[in-house]
Amino acid sequence: MLKSPPMNGHEIRERFLRYFEERGHKRVHSSPLLPANDPTLLFVNAGMNQFKDVFLGDDKREYTRAVSSQKCIRAGGKHNDLDEVGRTARHHTFFEMLGNFSFGDYFKEDAINYAWDFLTGKVEEGKLGLDPAYLWFTHFEGDDNVPADDEARDLWIKAGAKPERVLAFDAKDNFWQMGDTGPCGPCSEIHYYMGEDPDDPEKNRAEHVNAETGDDTIEIWNLVFMQFDKDADGKLTPLPAPSVDTGMGLERVAAVMQGKSTNYDSDLIRPIVDFVASLEN
Ligand code: ALA
Repeated sequence: MLKSPPMNGHEIRERFLRYFEERGHKRVHSSPLLPANDPTLLFVNAGMNQFKDVFLGDDKREYTRAVSSQKCIRAGGKHNDLDEVGRTARHHTFFEMLGNFSFGDYFKEDAINYAWDFLTGKVEEGKLGLDPAYLWFTHFEGDDNVPADDEARDLWIKAGAKPERVLAFDAKDNFWQMGDTGPCGPCSEIHYYMGEDPDDPEKNRAEHVNAETGDDTIEIWNLVFMQFDKDADGKLTPLPAPSVDTGMGLERVAAVMQGKSTNYDSDLIRPIVDFVASLEN
């Protein structure tokens, strides 16, 4: 079932870039897949990689807000999707990550308000027009090193989320780090219920968020509240300034916006599969 007019992948990417550009973000090209000057990483695994040194305070840009659509490969290292590919409807080795970034500029409240507005705001205003009845939100429950992020929970509710749709999870799901070392922080994710009827209490329910079953309710966007640099011993040192790093899976959102239950049926991938299938041996 389509919840909004279908939108092709190109349009979704452009809407995202334009939305943040209109809000003072510099549109930055995707970096190449092979990271420059980073021995901790074989392939680029997130939009923030090219800004790693900016988060750490070791590099400066002429802008404090950026937006990009980054080519990513997650086939090894800390973020390895390889074993999921071919088993789920939402993983592939190569994908595009849409992201907005703040380098010591705005922080949690603006990041959450932008995300809510872009997802649920009117299609005629350049946004995606998603129905909040399909959306779930997560925040960090805290651990021995970092306190619970109750502020993120409260901000989602203030933005418009129903309290029962904001759920707490542990570091596995809600503390993001690029690799074993480097910039990191608690994160807050947005998940989307892929079923037909949002009022179906059996299917559209909290237990399906971050569940092993996976494809029924899927993560579409992760907002990381970058605050620390992690060293090889696991010690967390505060970054020079709290920052924001987000990542939205373009192929996942394309599936959502096109009413498809798998990314492979979105317009970003289906034509490639059809073309390959049409080739003679
Ligand atoms: N860097 C964050 C991620 O990849 C947004 O999930």
